Amino acid sequence: MARIFKKHFRTMITAAVVLGLLVVIYLNDFEDFSDFTEPLDLNVRSQNSQAKLSTRSFSNKYTWPKCQRNESASNITGFSSLPDNIKDFLSYHHCLHFPMLLDVPDKCGGVDGSADVFLLLVIKTSAMNYDRREVLRKTWAKERKHNGVWIRRLFIAGTMGSGFEEERLNQLLEIEHRKHNDILQWDFKDSFYNLTLKQILFLEWMERNCPNARFLMNGDDDVLANTDNMVVYLQSLHKNNGSKHLFTGHLIQYVGPIRNPHSKYYVPVQVHESNSYPPYCGGGGFILSGYTALVIYNMSHSIPLIPIDDVYMGMCLAKAGLRPTFHFGVRTAGLHIPSKSIDSYDPCYYKDMLLVHRFLSGNLYLMWQRLHDPNLNCSTSTPV
Ligand SMILES: *[C@@H]1O[C@H](CO)[C@@H](O)[C@H](O)[C@H]1NC(C)=O
Ligand SMILES: *[C@@H]1O[C@H](CO)[C@@H](O)[C@H](O)[C@H]1NC(C)=O
Ligand SMILES: *[C@@H]1O[C@H](CO)[C@@H](O)[C@H](O)[C@H]1NC(C)=O
Ligand SMILES: *[C@@H]1O[C@H](CO)[C@@H](O)[C@H](O)[C@H]1NC(C)=O
Ligand SMILES: *[C@@H]1O[C@H](CO)[C@@H](O)[C@H](O)[C@H]1NC(C)=O
Ligand SMILES: *[C@@H]1O[C@H](CO)[C@@H](O)[C@H](O)[C@H]1NC(C)=O
Repeated sequence: MARIFKKHFRTMITAAVVLGLLVVIYLNDFEDFSDFTEPLDLNVRSQNSQAKLSTRSFSNKYTWPKCQRNESASNITGFSSLPDNIKDFLSYHHCLHFPMLLDVPDKCGGVDGSADVFLLLVIKTSAMNYDRREVLRKTWAKERKHNGVWIRRLFIAGTMGSGFEEERLNQLLEIEHRKHNDILQWDFKDSFYNLTLKQILFLEWMERNCPNARFLMNGDDDVLANTDNMVVYLQSLHKNNGSKHLFTGHLIQYVGPIRNPHSKYYVPVQVHESNSYPPYCGGGGFILSGYTALVIYNMSHSIPLIPIDDVYMGMCLAKAGLRPTFHFGVRTAGLHIPSKSIDSYDPCYYKDMLLVHRFLSGNLYLMWQRLHDPNLNCSTSTPV
């Protein structure tokens, strides 16, 4: 008798679970998430209901017409002899608005709460860099309070690939996002020449959702950023709590566009006529105040995009009459270790740095552990 009851009971439970799942799938379809197949993992869902909520609350995926290719771009002198990615850039650079696929509108605790975000880490990533994101979440980009102030993290991404590959990569980001609540993704093609677009879309997001964040670190997903040191440095700026100008990093000046069509950084006259660039900071990573971020966004409304994102930031600063500055601790061109007999990954070379490019997953994880080793003793090493 008891066994029969047990069996029925089990059947009933199974039926209830299946019914529950059907309702969940139905609701998701209803909310225009039909392009994403829900993984049937109730555990992830309930642990991260907040993450799920913030994704769901965003449903304006197709509220405006898709931006059209500018066919007249082909009338530009010399257009036909330009490389395809430049042609593509000139045909689409008027497209400045893209729907969001993943959002975290409450990342900063709302417009008012955002003043409590002392350092917002804005990390450029692309969907396939899963391993880099995982390591950053465990190391320098961990959300935490340091020295009494909050550090928050956002990855910014577009879409990659096409067909099934694109679907898979989007699904990967969505699953990560559900677990970590840390990805902003827009529906544009994530390419090198679209990095400026990515920056502008982020700034637009910031003005809307996080306008009072004090400081930001904007950088790549393959750098070592010593965010502990950054907080200490930013706290030492007694006259600036984020409401005044700051833009600092690896300063580059007296340079101009590379006119060699084979260079990764090729910028033809059709894109930027002048032979010089204003001073700017290398895009591997720079630090700026919330104030300056909003000024840059304001300036961007009247400056046509150029495909090199860090130069574009410099152009916006120049237009606002602001200057970027040099910071000794930001080494986007890497560190020069003087001798081959010294381990170039000796943590003592890195412990006073703010940011060093380039660090991949294993080395980065190890370096972060070594930098936080209470027994780290650098008294015999000479800093670089
Ligand atoms: C530019 O291109 C468009 C579309 O191809 C064409 O209709 C137009 O006549 C061209 N304008 C000039 C000035 O060549
Ligand atoms: C399209 O390209 C032409 C040629 O560069 C330019 O004059 C025109 O303003 C562009 N249209 C838009 C919508 O950006
Ligand atoms: C930038 O993204 C848009 C939208 O996805 C795409 O049409 C365009 O080709 C991309 N531009 C470049 C240079 O990749
Ligand atoms: C930041 O400093 C400015 C003066 O420079 C002051 O007006 C403002 O209230 C300060 N903001 C906060 C949140 O402390
Ligand atoms: C940006 O522009 C808006 C609207 O013109 C203005 O209200 C705001 O103060 C500007 N922000 C900065 C930081 O310049
Ligand atoms: C650090 O190393 C130096 C040289 O090896 C040694 O003299 C010093 O006592 C060490 N300091 C600590 C705190 O271990």
